[in-house]
Amino acid sequence: MPKTINQDIKPYNTKRNEKGNLEISGCDLVELAEKYGTPLYVMDKVSLLKIANEYKQAFSSYKKVNMMFASKALMTSAIAKILHEAGFGFDVVSGGEIHTINHAKVDMNFATFNGNNKTKEEIEMALKLNIGRVSVDNFYEIKLLDEIAQKLNKTQKILLRITPGIECHTHEYIQTGHLDSKFGFDLTQTDLAVETILKECKNLEIMGLHAHIGSQIFETQVYYDEIEVLIKETKRLNDKYNLNLSEMNIGGGLGITYTEKDCPPSVDKIAEVILTSIKDNCAKYNLDEPTLYIEPGRSIVGTSGVTLYTVGSYKNVPHFNKKYIAVDGGMADNPRPSMYGALYSAEIANNKADEPFEKVTVAGRFCESGDILIKDISLQSPKTGDILCVYNTGAYGYSMSSNYNNVLKPAMVLVNNSQSDIIIKRQTYDQLTQNDVIL
Ligand code: LLP
Repeated sequence: MPKTINQDIKPYNTKRNEKGNLEISGCDLVELAEKYGTPLYVMDKVSLLKIANEYKQAFSSYKKVNMMFASKALMTSAIAKILHEAGFGFDVVSGGEIHTINHAKVDMNFATFNGNNKTKEEIEMALKLNIGRVSVDNFYEIKLLDEIAQKLNKTQKILLRITPGIECHTHEYIQTGHLDSKFGFDLTQTDLAVETILKECKNLEIMGLHAHIGSQIFETQVYYDEIEVLIKETKRLNDKYNLNLSEMNIGGGLGITYTEKDCPPSVDKIAEVILTSIKDNCAKYNLDEPTLYIEPGRSIVGTSGVTLYTVGSYKNVPHFNKKYIAVDGGMADNPRPSMYGALYSAEIANNKADEPFEKVTVAGRFCESGDILIKDISLQSPKTGDILCVYNTGAYGYSMSSNYNNVLKPAMVLVNNSQSDIIIKRQTYDQLTQNDVIL
């Protein structure tokens, strides 16, 4: 099977140009750093469209599939517009994400509202904008959603989020499908959930089940098993309550290649497993093949993004024979290393010709000892003023960024065909205090 983008560390068109600098899609990264400043998030449109297309191709043999990009991985209006034009809908989990896709003129019918504690205001906002599906997570929400739908005189199509009891081998914080999870109905609770909806909620229409087993997944069998659980449960509910549940949302989770040690399956491989499981299990449980929803996030935007930093100070720790270099960003623009111990690959973007490699630890600039971006990485004699390119930062970097230490959030540029455009402006000091009230 051919490689897909999630199996690469670098964006599709990354190379050294004639100046010896790194470039992506014809844009020299050193020039980008000069023009826009650092830290700088860079998104490559070519890689983004390539992976979107890889997903579409991989599932093209299955006629009823809705690709819903998981907005939590990266949500900006420009990215939403590009992915929507490429045929994607959206998984959204907050009023802010709903607002952003609406701002990008996304057709709300192609959005699913997920989350374990949606507020009344957010649900109202979603229904008023005619959101396609709400994935109902718990008993509290069944009642709340029905009340709001009644008030707005609407019938809302819903999915029931279930916990399929599948354990996958990823970081504990990003595992979601195991039994002790804050998300969704336990399989022992689905009967009561369905009965409550059928008896008490005239304004809700159940379309099917939804599950998500975790993130940064490298295994394929877990998807096969998850789908079996969903199909078996769908069939059981259909028979018991005389329903015709015809939709199945299997969530996201496909992993990407942060370092050489990561070996995620290709998009084609994961599609093959998913489609085989649907075929096998629909036959086994005698169910018509459902409309499939998938919600990839990280694998869509992760590899397309890099972050550029400028190297500033450095420090030797003679006792441990160790060298730190510090960059002008860190845990506020990418909390993943300090939060999950996530690993990254990086290179010096400016020309280092034949300079020797040196083992260093890349520290962030924030006031925490844990603000280390990359431990023990080999870089070509890093010096003050060099531009460091950290790969695979397109997912869960900007979306999880903060203003810790009142440091401004970086800008984001989109590169394509030797052209670069700002898609997120760098925050300003005035913006930092614009909501401050002095008493
Ligand atoms: N669908 C649902 C219901 C989800 O909860 C998630 C991710 C996705 C889809 C997308 O999963 P993906 O394809 O991106 O793996 N902040 C963590 C990741 C948290 C994922 C939460 N849910 C990280 O930086 O690794």
